[in-house]
Amino acid sequence: MQRVTVGRLQKMKREGKPIAMVTAYDFPTAQLAEKSGVDVVLVGDSLGMVVLGYESTVPVTIADMVHHTRAVRRGLARPLLVADLPFLTYHQGEQAALTAAGRLMQEGGATAVKMEGGRELAPTVAACVAAGIPVMGHIGLLPQAVHQTGYRIRGKSVHEVEQLQQDAEALAAAGAFALVLECVTEEVARAVSEAVAIPTIGIGSGRYCDGQVLVFHDLVRFSAGDFLPSFAKTYADVGTAVREGLTQYVKDVKSKRFPDSEHTFRASDELVQQLYGGERV
Ligand code: KIV
Repeated sequence: MQRVTVGRLQKMKREGKPIAMVTAYDFPTAQLAEKSGVDVVLVGDSLGMVVLGYESTVPVTIADMVHHTRAVRRGLARPLLVADLPFLTYHQGEQAALTAAGRLMQEGGATAVKMEGGRELAPTVAACVAAGIPVMGHIGLLPQAVHQTGYRIRGKSVHEVEQLQQDAEALAAAGAFALVLECVTEEVARAVSEAVAIPTIGIGSGRYCDGQVLVFHDLVRFSAGDFLPSFAKTYADVGTAVREGLTQYVKDVKSKRFPDSEHTFRASDELVQQLYGGERV
């Protein structure tokens, strides 16, 4: 088993080998991801929406991220473990970013951190990289800025395309080892991927990125709701399986079909004899 490193991901790009990345937020999901052969596991701050029930990623704290990153670390060995720096933990100066990233690595066990934003973050990325912290960038749709920019596809105007290109190049020059491209039109994601030497990992950004990432709960439809982003493909319908199982369990308990003798511990005949004179209750 060879651990995936940032160098290995960059080699995969050079060799044209696609990178598979998925989010995880807890120990069992990490164990399943480990067994799937995935290259990168991201403890995304999507945690806030898919696990903690918030309306956006904004309320997620560094303490939440450390807690969940630790759980994922315990279930993971081979894939590279990246953790998101949550809202406002890297906009208050390089020192604050270093402190937050340090917590994700030292307390959470992450190997790398991810931050959302463009060229304005280049000095922060460079400071982290200089301190030995591998940084994954994230451009395109920025969920942490939803209250300012909303959820909409990026790369639909010449201006936006120029901004994306400049952001990608500035982050790569600052030392980011990879870039997430979220909800960027396919043609633009392709041009950005060709322009930078570091791997691009797309989510809702078409076929020509160097890798793909999906949110675990979308990929296996682990939710009771009907909403699924249009770019997400369902590979397993866990939500339906869980709902059916739970409904059957409730029925069995109420009709006394569960537990049956197969799921029950029995006392020895000798003990039953001593206690109840041989009569099993
Ligand atoms: O938080 C997250 O899950 C992410 C992915 C969408 C890339 O940032």
